[in-house]
Amino acid sequence: MDLVDPFGRTIRDLRISVTDRCNFRCTYCMPEEGMQWVPRSEVLTFEEFERLGRIFVERFEVDGLRLTGGEPTVRAHLPVLVAKLAELRVPAGSSSPLAGQKPDLSITTNGATFRLLAHELREAGLDRVNISLDTLQRDRFQQMTRRDELVRVLDGIEAAKEAGFSPVKINAVVERGVNDDEILDLARFGRERGVEVRFIEFMPLDATGHWMNDKVVSQDEIVSAIAAEFPLEQVPARGAAPADRWRYLDGAGMIGVIPTVTKPFCGDCDRVRLTADGQFRTCLFATSEFDLRALMRAGASDDDLAMEIQRAVGTKWAGHQINQVNFIRPTRSMSQIGG
Ligand code: GTP
Ligand code: 5AD
Ligand code: SF4
Repeated sequence: MDLVDPFGRTIRDLRISVTDRCNFRCTYCMPEEGMQWVPRSEVLTFEEFERLGRIFVERFEVDGLRLTGGEPTVRAHLPVLVAKLAELRVPAGSSSPLAGQKPDLSITTNGATFRLLAHELREAGLDRVNISLDTLQRDRFQQMTRRDELVRVLDGIEAAKEAGFSPVKINAVVERGVNDDEILDLARFGRERGVEVRFIEFMPLDATGHWMNDKVVSQDEIVSAIAAEFPLEQVPARGAAPADRWRYLDGAGMIGVIPTVTKPFCGDCDRVRLTADGQFRTCLFATSEFDLRALMRAGASDDDLAMEIQRAVGTKWAGHQINQVNFIRPTRSMSQIGG
């Protein structure tokens, strides 16, 4: 049965945050110190994630599951969870292109320890990897992530390719005055390494509240900067994905831009989220959550959980209001929501 929201959007994609913890402290996401971690007892177990994953995939025909964090790879034994999720099957009668098959399984990671896990995750059934990389300069990397790990992240990207993940995408958050002078260098990196770089407009989800509209480098600026050096043509039909995409006219691959602030794409949104502590969110910017953990731990049946999920999806709004005066920042920041 499809899960359809009040605006007629069918939910197909569930993002699962497996932990709120992270081995980096990116300035656009977390404070340097003082993060309040979710107590371990409140973080969902793999069995609980699997149970909810099953409801989404097998009842509601969700055909994409993405593991996020925090940093998902800091959760011990992650391949075990991937293997469990890889056993799920999208119902045969579904209108999804993956009907009868396992859902598309992907991860978004900072890449620092990916070399250690790439092979095992691939074997477990993971299909795709997106790795964050905002700068190619070691000093700046240390400033932006508060960790001196550029070399290991670059190696993690290679490890992802070697393990057979395809595509491997790179996520670069662009912040004016911080790394906007590297747009071309990052584009060049993508062309040379055969990875799709996606530039992300800085969103008001940083923990320290330093986001301001003038720090956002717009999609138009990003695309013009790259096209001036490497001619581009836009690829039509983004579908429900957040990234608009362009192709290099010389055949050297693609770039993407995720224009949340200057060109919101909420009208096509097909996603919902589960936080590490079992809260269900119908939008990245939602200001309310639905407590599936409490229900599960109080003995709710799958039918009860499915009803609560439907009730929550019935409250999904048309979209965020970042550019309006009445925009309210979510109380939780990116690492707690799951990106
Ligand atoms: P693909 O399936 O590979 O296209 O991945 P994705 O772009 O959907 O996910 P990823 O985790 O790589 O996220 C890239 C950026 O998009 C991050 O900054 C996310 O926070 C942002 N993002 C993901 N989902 C949403 C969404 O529903 N709304 C908005 N505004 N941004 C999102
Ligand atoms: N704005 C935009 N993107 C962000 N991410 C984290 N914080 C922000 C923010 N404030 C990105 C990370 C990662 C993904 C999960 O979200 O870089 O690629
Ligand atoms: Fe969907 Fe909310 Fe993201 Fe808009 S901001 S695309 S409604 S999750």
